[in-house]
Amino acid sequence: MTATSILSAAPVQNFEIRPFDAPVGAEVVGLDISQPLSDSEFARIHQAHLDHHVLVFRDQQVSPAAHVDFSRRFGPLEIHVLHQFQLKGHPEILIVSNIKDNGEPIGLGDAGVYWHSDISYKPHPSLGSLLHAQELPSEGGDTLFADQHLAWEALSPALQQRILPLKAEHSYLAKYEELRAKNPWRPKLSQAQIDQVSPAVQPVVRTHPETGRKALFVSEHFTTRIVGLPQAESDALLAELFAHSVKPEFIYRHQWQPHDLVFWDNRSLMHLAAGTPDHLRRKLYRTTIQGDAPY
Ligand code: SIN
Repeated sequence: MTATSILSAAPVQNFEIRPFDAPVGAEVVGLDISQPLSDSEFARIHQAHLDHHVLVFRDQQVSPAAHVDFSRRFGPLEIHVLHQFQLKGHPEILIVSNIKDNGEPIGLGDAGVYWHSDISYKPHPSLGSLLHAQELPSEGGDTLFADQHLAWEALSPALQQRILPLKAEHSYLAKYEELRAKNPWRPKLSQAQIDQVSPAVQPVVRTHPETGRKALFVSEHFTTRIVGLPQAESDALLAELFAHSVKPEFIYRHQWQPHDLVFWDNRSLMHLAAGTPDHLRRKLYRTTIQGDAPY
């Protein structure tokens, strides 16, 4: 059977894209991501992702393999440096979870506790990430998304002009030991893991490679300094930008429903895990799509 005849045999899916009453985000209703998407269905999803930056696919009762296959339609996948938390048989899936099995964590329990854009510490940060709900707490566990295009557009022209030529260093290790001190189950990194995450220098303002829109690109989690500025000046400017970038008017707060799959654009957004009470269980699977070098 040819690729064309496989596609023409795929059932047409009548799905709807419903924008949220929020600065970003839309819900995709009626699409089963485990079914093959025709080129026109894929093009609709791709465009909706560019328009809304975060898409929530409801009720995806799909396998890890289907999650991986759907993610791969958008680009090659990252393998996270914390290989301890890969899903068995699916190295492309990072387990995000506060659950412990016989005292051992099954996943990264404190993923996303500071605002960040995934993998900004690598020369080619992520295009986007897909988080699929497996087990949800009865309270808490929300994920927040902040639109960095809106953040850039809301800066004063003088501050825009000042930061446009600047570059900043991003480091995976910036907060690692601080997090490990609070959460002793976070694994100690081997030298090989440390070597995989040497710091990267990124523009403070990036241009989205598909839409051409500018976005702020610094984060509380990974950005350590503005290159070429004295430390005190760099600290003061970063503090101002961090505070500005997560103002309420840029934020969508996602309250998870069973089997949600959430797909966000790391070139447009930062995100934050709001936290789960310790006595409640939360488990999600994450894939991360590789992206381009920011400019
Ligand atoms: C992440 O930062 O990838 C995890 C976000 C979450 O657990 O809500």
